Amino acid sequence: MINLSTTYLGLPLRSPIIAGSSGITNNIRNIIELDKQGVGAVVLKSLFEEQILNEASKTLHQGEGLGGYPEALDYIGQYTRHNALNEYLNLIRECKKAVSMPIIASINCVSASEWIQFAYSIQEAGADAIELNIFLLPSDPYRSAEDHEAVYFQIIDAIKSKITIPISIKISPYFSGLAKTAIQLSWTGIKGIVLFNRFFSPDIDIENETVASGFTFSNAADIAMPLRWVAMLRPRVQCDLCASSGVDSGEAVVKLLLAGANAVQTTSALYKHGTAEIGIMNNFLADWMTRKGYQSIAEFNGKLSIENAMNPAAYERVQFMKHFAGIE
Ligand SMILES: Cc1cc2nc3c(=O)[nH]c(=O)nc-3n(C[C@H](O)[C@H](O)[C@H](O)COP(=O)(O)O)c2cc1C
Repeated sequence: MINLSTTYLGLPLRSPIIAGSSGITNNIRNIIELDKQGVGAVVLKSLFEEQILNEASKTLHQGEGLGGYPEALDYIGQYTRHNALNEYLNLIRECKKAVSMPIIASINCVSASEWIQFAYSIQEAGADAIELNIFLLPSDPYRSAEDHEAVYFQIIDAIKSKITIPISIKISPYFSGLAKTAIQLSWTGIKGIVLFNRFFSPDIDIENETVASGFTFSNAADIAMPLRWVAMLRPRVQCDLCASSGVDSGEAVVKLLLAGANAVQTTSALYKHGTAEIGIMNNFLADWMTRKGYQSIAEFNGKLSIENAMNPAAYERVQFMKHFAGIE
């Protein structure tokens, strides 16, 4: 039996394949199913900073009939916040009782605000690590890249003072200096960076001529982004790298491990093919390792990162030179 075990964020994983945060990882039934398939770890559905604040303000609005007693309204706001949080904490506790793999809690955040208080409770409930999905779209034309990037460091600083469990951050590729920022982030004491989050993407409905929601799920070609950046950042960052986006087959898992990912996350594939996809990916990885004569992940992990690849320039290349110049 091939050994697929590895470590991620300092946690032992029986497989480098992690179920990414989504509605699938929001209930104990699915998590037990994923466990049966041999998943390495699970990132729970995120608790949204925005969602918590919105829920509280919605209840405050509904409470207007209370005649404007500010203390009562404040109590309802607090209650709602604790309710959302309690459900989350209960899920963590249930998971810790039901399965032995690491449970990674997840928070979607955009600032170092009130949600940071929740982090300690999440740790107390038994989460093995916290993944912060810092989802800032740098779309404000009056905000500089420095201002934008400072938020990441502020959030990490604030949460580090509250908890001792490992922290990872999930980032988007929208940085003007992605390599430098990722390297600096890796010096803050976080244990891992997840490359990359996938934003909700708008589409256009050409019949109704309206802006619509689109592209919920990724496809196989989407691994190109994490593959390039994992390979280029692997020798330069001082923390783990986890690849996310487009991991929809065992082949993609192998590619990303060769590029240097310590682990990978898959989400869309679970929606499209079900939780059994984890077992299929694990089997592919084990068969490939057997065929190649590898006994452990460590033997080939990072073999094709930029420092080890025979042709490292391929990762830096941005133009289709052969294509444009007609060179074969
Ligand atoms: C339906 C759906 C819900 C998601 N919910 C979350 C979430 O709550 N928190 C989060 O960090 N990422 C969330 N994601 C993003 C995924 O965790 C993942 O980063 C992204 O889908 C890219 O991976 P994939 O190509 O394997 O789907 C969600 C993705 C999908 C498709």
